[in-house]
Amino acid sequence: MDFSIKTFDSKTTIAQVKTGCIIVGIFENKKLSAAAKSLDTKAAITTAINSGDVSGKAGSTLLLHAPAGVMAERVLLVGLGAEGAVTDRNFISAVQAVARTLTTLGTSDALLALPLELTVGRDSSWAIRTAVLSLRENLYRTDELKSKKDPVKGGVKKLALAVDAAGAAAAKVSIAQSVALANGMDLAKTLGNLPPNICTPTYLATTAKKLAKDFKLGIEVLDRKQLEALKMGSFLSVTNGSVEPPKFIVLKHMGGKAKAAPVVLVGKGITFDTGGISLKPGSGMDEMKYDMCGAASVLGTFLAIAEMQLKLNVIAVIPTCENMPSGSATRPGDIVTSMSGQTIEVLNTDAEGRLILCDALTYVERFKPAVVVDIATLTGACVTALGHHNSGLFTRHDDTHDALANELLAAGKNANDTAWRMPIEEVYQEQLKSNFADIANIGGPPGGSITAACFLERFTRNYTWAHLDIAGTAWKSGAAKGSTGRPVPLLTQFLMGRAQK
Ligand code: BES
Ligand code: MN
Ligand code: ZN
Repeated sequence: MDFSIKTFDSKTTIAQVKTGCIIVGIFENKKLSAAAKSLDTKAAITTAINSGDVSGKAGSTLLLHAPAGVMAERVLLVGLGAEGAVTDRNFISAVQAVARTLTTLGTSDALLALPLELTVGRDSSWAIRTAVLSLRENLYRTDELKSKKDPVKGGVKKLALAVDAAGAAAAKVSIAQSVALANGMDLAKTLGNLPPNICTPTYLATTAKKLAKDFKLGIEVLDRKQLEALKMGSFLSVTNGSVEPPKFIVLKHMGGKAKAAPVVLVGKGITFDTGGISLKPGSGMDEMKYDMCGAASVLGTFLAIAEMQLKLNVIAVIPTCENMPSGSATRPGDIVTSMSGQTIEVLNTDAEGRLILCDALTYVERFKPAVVVDIATLTGACVTALGHHNSGLFTRHDDTHDALANELLAAGKNANDTAWRMPIEEVYQEQLKSNFADIANIGGPPGGSITAACFLERFTRNYTWAHLDIAGTAWKSGAAKGSTGRPVPLLTQFLMGRAQK
């Protein structure tokens, strides 16, 4: 979809615009938004509302054909809820309803004239981003591997957003940024949804190389030999049972000042998690193809910030491999030595995410990072704790890390991609005691997402660090099974905020 802006002055009114469809908001109790009022020159909208065919309830719609006094072929009325300030929930419902309707219209161009400034506590860039992402979400398809495609039927291809002249320049920037973000989310979704026989560690590396080529990013892909030389014994122990070669991807977007310390994003890239010798139950195991969604979100975020030409130094680090059982697989009870030198007793081979991440978290020390954020579908326990609405956010609890946590939480709220803070405390560390090694890789059932974070914490003490457990938010199960593209919006918003500092 092609997005643009349209501004109005005293000479042109919205009623004079020739387009396939104009979308305007109406409120409950038969109230019209400003744009709806100026479109209502011959009372066509008032008549429609009085007919009782549309309520003004958020997300309700009514399509009018060739209404009197309007040059456009159609007017789509969409409910915004109670009059006046629009709640963000109501605005989201409204644009989702618009998105659904626009993809079925018999016209290819439309003008969106919703009140972008009225959303409570949000600015017009929030409203523009929310609208663009809803429309793009509706157009996203997962039929690449189906012989019969599920085409977008007809539908609007060109959408102009009505903005006042004073806000035109800012709106243009917002649209470009929103489109970049949507593109990044699409990449993350597509990588997540691809089957594990296609989306292998090698495939992720190829995708990263393509990104590097398209946007002139720095790239390095380390293979098994190089990982052995780096003594990544923990990461390598996870790949033992797999015939797919592991990859360690390092991607650099150096848009900031030459000497500015980079933000480092570390993404878990298990392209399939069987559990290894601690084999998972069969039911629903297919969904463990999504165990590389941390990696996918990092690549998606890189596409977004590269397209935006964000003025910030950001480095992506992606350890990626499969977790498979075989005669050569790591056994429960094996003790491995991590790159940090800490020895780890592998009590459960299904707690593999932390085993690949800990070596990546040691590796990134060389970048002298301003901050490191790791993103991982790390624990089922996080889904139990927070469900599918919030990602789990973990940091240490000092002033520096409290500030970082608040920055990430705020970015998530702004981007409609929220996280919830969880504790990391010394008392939980005791659950990771091993009789035979420095640390065990599991802490037992109580507080499973916390002990997983505590495990990672031991490898991050030389820099400022946050961990996002996205096990509950990265994909949906059931009939709507599919990748969500989260937390690309949170991460992108966080980096945009950093670039402005
Ligand atoms: N990738 C899984 C976590 C996961 C499970 C995410 C289900 C989403 C849904 C991870 O590697 C894992 O298996 N974690 C174990 C840890 C346990 C063995 C301590 C888990 O959560 O059961
Ligand atoms: Mn696992
Ligand atoms: Zn896993």
